[in-house]
Amino acid sequence: MARPVIRLLSFGAAAYLAGACTGDVGSSLPPGLTPAQQKAQKAWTEKALPAFKAATCTMCHDGSMPDIGYLVGTSDLLIRDTAIAFLPQVVNLSAPQSSRVLNKGVHTGPALLVNQATDILDWITAERDARPPGAVIETPMTVPMPCVSGNPGDATCPINVVDLSALGSMGSSFNFVATALGPDLYVTDMKFKAGPDGLHIEHPLFETWPPMAAGSADAGSMMPASVPDPIDRYFASIINLAAAGTMPLGNGITTFSGFKITDPLSIRFDVVDKVRP
Ligand code: HEC
Repeated sequence: MARPVIRLLSFGAAAYLAGACTGDVGSSLPPGLTPAQQKAQKAWTEKALPAFKAATCTMCHDGSMPDIGYLVGTSDLLIRDTAIAFLPQVVNLSAPQSSRVLNKGVHTGPALLVNQATDILDWITAERDARPPGAVIETPMTVPMPCVSGNPGDATCPINVVDLSALGSMGSSFNFVATALGPDLYVTDMKFKAGPDGLHIEHPLFETWPPMAAGSADAGSMMPASVPDPIDRYFASIINLAAAGTMPLGNGITTFSGFKITDPLSIRFDVVDKVRP
């Protein structure tokens, strides 16, 4: 059986606060922060927060409207802590560019301008880099078996079954049918199936693994780089299933733009566990 991909990434607020005591004496920043933490703090106070203000995001997300107060706080740093901790997650430290704050676009509020989005992405990336590495919960990379004709389950339309046992839920799986839709990946019949101990998952993030392009930033590195779902569409999905239960993901159907059906796919989770009470 293929083994789950464990890559090193940085996250974890507790560890962040417990950071090493190597404060830069000459700086105006508080002592006790690592250089990476200082960089992240500076990126927040000098770039990201001013960008949120200039874009008027603070107008509605400062607590004045119910349920969407991800920019609430009595100081700049407390506002930062709220943004990072807010659920459903709007700042994604394990896939910064997929963060909902960056890709929300026009809604009741405006879209971010490109330079504002860049400043905020720089901050989120710096926050990630300021955290110690942690393990990622991710399925093995596999190239989906394509559906070319017929109905799901036919020989020409296989159901892909991703085993979640090794990630923390024995006998549970994620099932889907994959069809090429031009350059995109059209996925149907997406559902979770719980094993004998039930299944609890949070925040599935789909990632595609295109081959490294010659001349790309990653060319020459040992690991191909993953491209996460740019809109992190299941950022708010939490599924809790009793033994042998099944549940569609979303409405079971979606299209991942730019995911080639011939490229390996993996799914990352914030949590995979047995059913929770
Ligand atoms: C005029 C009020 C208003 C302003 C200004 C505003 N928003 Fe929102 N925002 C909302 C409302 C209402 C919701 C909840 C409904 C929804 O999701 O569209 C929301 C939800 C969100 C969400 C969380 C829900 C999701 O789908 O991820 C994000 C992220 C977000 N806004 C980002 C922003 C950003 C970034 C800005 C600044 C560029 C901004 N908003 C400015 C009103 C506003």
